[in-house]
Amino acid sequence: MSRLEKYRQVFENNRRWVESKREHDSTYFERLASGQQPEFLYIGCADSRVPANEIMGLEPGDVFVHRNVANIVVNTDLNAHTVIEYAVNHLEVDHIIVCGHYGCGGVGAAMKSQDLGVMNGWLREIRDVFRLHKAELMGIADEEARYRRLVELNVQEQCIHVLKTASVQKSYLKRKLPTVHGWVFDLHDGLLKDLEIPFDDILEDIREIYRLDV
Ligand code: CO
Repeated sequence: MSRLEKYRQVFENNRRWVESKREHDSTYFERLASGQQPEFLYIGCADSRVPANEIMGLEPGDVFVHRNVANIVVNTDLNAHTVIEYAVNHLEVDHIIVCGHYGCGGVGAAMKSQDLGVMNGWLREIRDVFRLHKAELMGIADEEARYRRLVELNVQEQCIHVLKTASVQKSYLKRKLPTVHGWVFDLHDGLLKDLEIPFDDILEDIREIYRLDV
């Protein structure tokens, strides 16, 4: 298939998808157009092998999605924080998921000292995660195991960035939600793993630093 054919194929795929949806439910698109009430906000990596809805087995309308390189929530990132604010205080999602994946190119690049130009600043966020957990990570002799652990610790730290936001703190005081979860996707078997991060213990230590009087 030529490059142009591959491009055109997408529209053919789209028409088939529309037909199959209509076949099962003639009012499918009327419902889709009427609004969204997703229960999940998913923050994940932009990697093409980790499609949020598909790996969660969810349909359009079920999950509000934000993706970037290495699923990072930077404190000054207006994009990510607009997504979080909208999801939490307008859509009132019950769950926020930060999902990383083993074999993440962004995390791998941050483990090397290579200069990556405009990407340096973004990847430095992951180097900061490494610095915070240096003792644990340097204690892992196997490089692949260390890489996998950094993927997990990056998820943990980005979850903490989500928990620190006024959007989440305000909502939590009001309705005891959303719950924040850290997940990792394994490309080798397709399985999602809940890291079951002990946020209560972690936050106990840092609550006084990040608590906002909201
Ligand atoms: Co990635």
